[in-house]
Amino acid sequence: MVSAKAQSASPGTGEVFANYIGGQWRSAAAGETFENRNPSNTTELVGHFAASASEDVDAAVTAAAEAAEGWRRTSAIARAHVLHAAANLLEARVPAVGRELTREEGKTLKEGVGETTRAVQILRYFAGEAQQPSGEHYPSMNPLTLLYTEREPIGVVGIITPWNFPIAIPAWKIAPALAFGNTVVFKPASLTPLCAVRLVEVLAEAGLPPGVLNLVTGSASAVGDPLTRDERVAAISFTGSNAVGAELRKIAAARGAKLQLELGGKNPAIVLADADVDHALGHVVAGAMMSTGQKCTATSRAIVERSLVDRFTDRLTERVAGLNVGDPLLPDTQIGPLINDEAADRVSEEVKQAEAAGARLVAGGQRLTDNGRGNGAFLAPTLFADVAASSRLGQEELFGPVLGVIPVSDMDEAMEVANNVRFGLSASLFTRDLGKALAFAQSIQAGIVHVNSETAGAEPHVPFGGMKGSSSYSREQGKAAREFFTQLKTVYIDPPPTPVAEAERRASGAA
Ligand code: UN1
Repeated sequence: MVSAKAQSASPGTGEVFANYIGGQWRSAAAGETFENRNPSNTTELVGHFAASASEDVDAAVTAAAEAAEGWRRTSAIARAHVLHAAANLLEARVPAVGRELTREEGKTLKEGVGETTRAVQILRYFAGEAQQPSGEHYPSMNPLTLLYTEREPIGVVGIITPWNFPIAIPAWKIAPALAFGNTVVFKPASLTPLCAVRLVEVLAEAGLPPGVLNLVTGSASAVGDPLTRDERVAAISFTGSNAVGAELRKIAAARGAKLQLELGGKNPAIVLADADVDHALGHVVAGAMMSTGQKCTATSRAIVERSLVDRFTDRLTERVAGLNVGDPLLPDTQIGPLINDEAADRVSEEVKQAEAAGARLVAGGQRLTDNGRGNGAFLAPTLFADVAASSRLGQEELFGPVLGVIPVSDMDEAMEVANNVRFGLSASLFTRDLGKALAFAQSIQAGIVHVNSETAGAEPHVPFGGMKGSSSYSREQGKAAREFFTQLKTVYIDPPPTPVAEAERRASGAA
């Protein structure tokens, strides 16, 4: 009954996918499963997945702990080889896996294929990164001392990932964890477990030894909680909500685990009067609406200079209202569904509250149920004008296709509004003024800063992460990834006191 290595789950087959523990595909110990459905048509089953519990987590952590010493002793070159092989396997499967991603997550096929391609690039990048220098050589007070630092693996790492980037985010956590010699227990979001299976399959097929990477699917309470509390899990990397992030801070602090958090955003796009309006419009719409606005890097505030705001809002309204919302597998679709009905209902409730609070709804806002959209979590892309910077809509992350326009008098007010939120992930400025661009880059409180491009997007070879409430001061991807997934050791090696060494030591004047 367990067929986790199946290469594709065709619609409605109800195929069963397993956990991967100690190099074996195994169902949950209790034999339970949960369903995963297509958010564009919830009558369509993507598959059944292991509904795991603490005993499965325990087995996975045990396997990871047992594999830790062997993997840490494996040369970085050999580890790189596995990541390269996995990248090649995934690359050959991009069309199939991209399609599966779209079926289970709901972003458009172009985005699903693009994200899978990004996962391939990430695996390749970290294969290369594994082969980079892992420490520094220093001069010592004693000229005979060999003094150097080395970055060592931490041990067993718990990786908990969200549904909105179901293959790229797992890849950008798992690839560096493995590259730098850690073993992993991976708990993916329950709304997108198939992409997790596909990623683990390529790594397993590429030759990872048993126990080095373990997949445990199931709920946050039954899997995430025991995983993060397990004393053997030395580090936890999590991307998701601020509420869960706050809980993880407590758990990790209490037992001294290393913790990396990537949380929410309320990302601004400032549009100044001198901007290229067509260019800004395209980027603001893409930043706000691609992936149905379900990115922590999505643009959710357009902060526009008053002299431009009416014209800009009119054109924005036209663009947002004209977006083609529907089945994300169809080539003309620009916006797919939200991740599930609950999310679509939650966001439409937020829309009603924002209207009641005085924001002016100028596009969308309603659930869409016509034209074959009756069984999906569709919501019309939504635009509000005259949004008060201090309102809930101006402050809180809605995680949906909702953009608010906030008018401001000038650049100074724009900066004040942009920074006056608890988040600080990404930010954009649209201008032709180099001085303002530089001032923005210096003063904006955001970990990722764009001038004349949208707030979303992340190249694999540069650091990714936010300031303030968006992150935990650590960075993912690029060279920064090594800092979280390793620990530093400083080594002093002195020669034994042979007569020659002693003479040299004395000659050097050392004590
Ligand atoms: C992107 O903007 O392409 O969960 C990546 C998120 C972010 C990743 C965004 N951690 O949306």
